[in-house]
Amino acid sequence: MKVRKLIVSLSVVGMSSVAIADAQLRAEVAKLIQPIQPVVISADQKAKVELGKQLFFDPRLSMSGIISCNTCHNVMLGGVDNLKTSIGHKWQPGPVNAPTVFNSKLNLAQFWDGRAANLKEQAAGPIQAPVEMAMPHTLAVEVIQSIPGYVSQIQAIYGTDKVSLDHITDAIAAYEETLVTPNSPFDRWLRGDDKAMTAEQIAGLKIFYESGCVACHNGPNLGGNSYQKMGVVEPYRSSSPAEGRAAVTKKDEDRWFFKVPTLRNVELTYPYFHDGEASTLEEAVVLMGRLQLGRTFSDDEVKKIVAFLHALTGERPQDVLPLLPASGPNTPRPDP
Ligand code: HEM
Ligand code: HEM
Repeated sequence: MKVRKLIVSLSVVGMSSVAIADAQLRAEVAKLIQPIQPVVISADQKAKVELGKQLFFDPRLSMSGIISCNTCHNVMLGGVDNLKTSIGHKWQPGPVNAPTVFNSKLNLAQFWDGRAANLKEQAAGPIQAPVEMAMPHTLAVEVIQSIPGYVSQIQAIYGTDKVSLDHITDAIAAYEETLVTPNSPFDRWLRGDDKAMTAEQIAGLKIFYESGCVACHNGPNLGGNSYQKMGVVEPYRSSSPAEGRAAVTKKDEDRWFFKVPTLRNVELTYPYFHDGEASTLEEAVVLMGRLQLGRTFSDDEVKKIVAFLHALTGERPQDVLPLLPASGPNTPRPDP
């Protein structure tokens, strides 16, 4: 009886010390990483978000008539194309991997090198980019102007029947603002649900926190809020010509600095890095340890970190597919 009592009390002590350690970890981590907030679409934004969703899915914004934003940022997947680098107009490969559109509104700027200040400015880029949709802006506007179902929506939202690029990018950005993924197991754990993450995932978070990953992957997006050098401790040899932030600042010291990617939903967004060179999360974690922190993780540590990264998968928006308005008699035809 005495022995039994002792075992029971020891196990209670054991459990509570783990719980205390977890609570401490939670308090420390919560100072650096915040849960994703769900989006509530206000009544006056509804029509704009709906228009933006249609445009996001509309391949008529591309020269070929077959590429939409969703081709490369597939919201049924992780908001990406899962290709090493994207394939665009005339099957041309682009120079970099497509980042996810999920939670992208939380980024300090858009693109790997941050060359677009916000989502609205960003959306103008791919429509015209020769290796993406290859559609001159004047033609994109002409196409939307020729589709009566779009003109009526633009009239209702913006009070004019004269379509501009500004309307197109503003509406797409409004839709993208709704693409957030709250309530991941990690977020639920952060809010106090001890059971939301497995013991292995919590152990992975501990390594992630203590070894210094969190120095760059922090904030609600676990990234997206700073530019950091790829290859801090050891130089990184990339297959991509992309130079990172230096392309914007023209400063030599900004070469190989990239916007730190979000780790939200990272299990869905393979392959990894701006050049898509790491095909698995294990590879990415091993390389991050070595290049950024000068650390060689054991297989067990890698396994735990990867388990934690899987806990960052949130609830993707379950959207109803938009029905696109019919082309008009004068809608310019595609040129594939
Ligand atoms: C980057 C949205 C079309 C491939 C981005 C980003 C956003 C976005 C928000 C920045 C994300 C970040 O930096 O974290 C859109 C929208 C599109 C569109 C609204 C339609 C108008 C496409 C298409 C392709 C594509 C059709 C593939 C052919 C890429 C690539 C990047 C990117 C490769 C990274 C480029 C760089 O950083 O230099 N897109 N995208 N996108 N997108 Fe798209
Ligand atoms: C990219 C995890 C430490 C800066 C990534 C990616 C993962 C990752 C999975 C790929 C994400 C994607 O492409 O979508 C980790 C882990 C770390 C760690 C587990 C700790 C071992 C760091 C540190 C820094 C950093 C300390 C800053 C000094 C970056 C940058 C990229 C990146 C700049 C993009 C690199 C590129 O695309 O060329 N990280 N990271 N990371 N991380 Fe980390």
